[in-house]
Amino acid sequence: MNEYHLYWFSGSGNSLLICKAIKEELVSKEKEVSMFTMDKFDPSQVSTEVVNGFVVSVYEQGLNPLVWDFLYGLPKSNNTPVFFVDTLMAYSGGVKGPVKKIFKKKGYKPLGAIEIIMPNNYFKRKDNKEKDKLKIERGILKARKFTNNLLLGKTKFRDIPIYSYLMSLPSKSKLVSKLMNRYVTVSINEELCDKCGICTMICPTGHLIVNEDSNYPMTLKSVSCIQCLRCMSFCHSEAIKVGSKKNLTYKALPIKEMLKELKK
Ligand SMILES: Cc1cc2nc3c(=O)[nH]c(=O)nc-3n(C[C@H](O)[C@H](O)[C@H](O)COP(=O)(O)O)c2cc1C
Repeated sequence: MNEYHLYWFSGSGNSLLICKAIKEELVSKEKEVSMFTMDKFDPSQVSTEVVNGFVVSVYEQGLNPLVWDFLYGLPKSNNTPVFFVDTLMAYSGGVKGPVKKIFKKKGYKPLGAIEIIMPNNYFKRKDNKEKDKLKIERGILKARKFTNNLLLGKTKFRDIPIYSYLMSLPSKSKLVSKLMNRYVTVSINEELCDKCGICTMICPTGHLIVNEDSNYPMTLKSVSCIQCLRCMSFCHSEAIKVGSKKNLTYKALPIKEMLKELKK
């Protein structure tokens, strides 16, 4: 197959950056590549006639609920090749095993999976731009190498089945989601906010909306926050906090690039 579809989900941009590096590498090998955000894509419409790649971030040792829902919603296939890439700060126990199981159950052919360490966005307390830059460079290199190995048929999809399944449970748990929603909330500092509206445009769930009276962003209690931290990461006036006010913001790429990819 010469055509590749890459599906991505990203909060602070790490996974988007890696997805773009994979795309570039595939294009350089004359593959036809399209990228789609998982944000608003109906997974049942994923094509089973192309090679599909999934590039997402690790969340609570597993995956963000939005990503689990997407993978569980994939259509059945007859041996469609798929590969999987996640970005993380340090460790994920509950990703590769359950993801491979979903692919196999739905009839896909798992070609390979890789985890790429990128700068932490997980309630960051220390800023070290030099270290982050180095991590990003290494991550991109690892993604390019993986892509080349994928084309050579040299990648593997390793997993530790039972352990991996157990480790995935917290990120799939409705109770954990509920607790996160109650205790890790989005707050907006109206003194810093310049009402640009970007946070409401990029929120993947619609938890953040514009208050029509004041034009400031506000949270919608009826729609869950999935703690992707996209709003906090890309707020140029640092007016948004998710969780503790002491957490630092981090983004892997400029807002322009995130907006461009989200609009596709
Ligand atoms: C709520 C939350 C939970 C996270 N959980 C983990 C984790 O269990 N293990 C880990 O290594 N990184 C964890 N991270 C860090 C991210 O996976 C990592 O920074 C990732 O590269 C972010 O990618 P993104 O910018 O594409 O969203 C977590 C981040 C957030 C926001």
